[in-house]
Amino acid sequence: MPRKPLPGVASDNYSIHSLSKKVLITGAGGQDGYFLVKLLLQRGDTVHGLLREGSENEIGSLKYLGEAALARISIHRGNITEKWFIDELIQRELFDQVFHLAAQSSVAHSIEHPRATIDTNVLGLTNIATSIRDRSPKTKLLFTGSSEMFGNLTDGKQSEHTPRHPQSPYGLTKDFGFQLINAYRNHYGLWAATAILFNHESEFRGEQFVTKKIIQSVARIADGRDEVLSLGNIYAERDWGYAGDYMEGVLDVMALKRPDDFVFATGQLHSVKDFVNLAFKHAGIKPEWNGEGLDEIARDRSSGKVIVKIDERFYRPGDIKGTCGDASKAKQVLAWQAHTDLNGIIEHMLRHEQGLATN
Ligand code: GDD
Repeated sequence: MPRKPLPGVASDNYSIHSLSKKVLITGAGGQDGYFLVKLLLQRGDTVHGLLREGSENEIGSLKYLGEAALARISIHRGNITEKWFIDELIQRELFDQVFHLAAQSSVAHSIEHPRATIDTNVLGLTNIATSIRDRSPKTKLLFTGSSEMFGNLTDGKQSEHTPRHPQSPYGLTKDFGFQLINAYRNHYGLWAATAILFNHESEFRGEQFVTKKIIQSVARIADGRDEVLSLGNIYAERDWGYAGDYMEGVLDVMALKRPDDFVFATGQLHSVKDFVNLAFKHAGIKPEWNGEGLDEIARDRSSGKVIVKIDERFYRPGDIKGTCGDASKAKQVLAWQAHTDLNGIIEHMLRHEQGLATN
């Protein structure tokens, strides 16, 4: 399906998507892969998905696309840290576009396992960008960067020009990626761009992330199960958007003739505690909070049962206290904006979780 020309977009920097493209998505089995594959198939592209080798029958979130869509995807299995494998794939297939989503994406895991995170995120991107540079230089490369590269919110919202002060090994790898993309674009003439994504959630979010953990617990508690949700720093603040909205933006970046970097964010800041309260509200439960610090708890106002407690094990050294993005460049150049607010995100996530429980 041809994409509409976007209002506000300089026409000489926007190519209407008329011809079907041959596209590779690395990390296609993750949350973002689901939305991106769906959009690309709707557009009539030839979609190749790269999945981690090892669990041969596992296709992650792609299973929710259904059999007809799955039959249209060519799946490759391999390790992005293996240069020979990436070289061979890029040279053989000569993709029009590569969306590099594959990463070790948990900040908490990166603190425990910095080396594995650096291996996957730094070597993986370096291999892909270098293979494209040397073997398929017409291929466009889009890298999904992260707000983690900015570090803490200081003053104002974080935009493409905000100084970067990453605090976690994960954040460092995303800063590296951002700089590598810039260097390959400026010095080797590659079409390479970074979509700097702030936290983005959905029904397909991994269980290691706080929103999914909260939603799963809330769904079980609403179902009458005896469960206490244990969390770390509930006063951390994030700018949470919907992954489906962000993948539309990523496609808009790829449609540009000249590569550029863009922040994708909602500009709305909420604490983890706000998310917990809203999630319970959607499930018809009223939490009543008491205590402070590690002793803070929430009880279900009607049953009196403890439903939330704080567990020191989930605190992170060097945790980012808050991030909030300024997506005005994406709005101006791509006519992009986030459509789904936090209530909408929670609705999608809770409905999916409750549906799974009744299946
Ligand atoms: N995971 C988790 N588990 N986080 C908790 C918990 C808990 O039990 N309790 C409190 N938190 C706090 C974390 O300390 C952090 O401040 C916040 O909740 C969000 O944590 P995550 O959901 O793990 O996400 P993140 O912000 O660290 O990173 C996500 O967003 C980045 C920016 O888009 C990931 O998706 C990254 O891959 C992404 O780059």
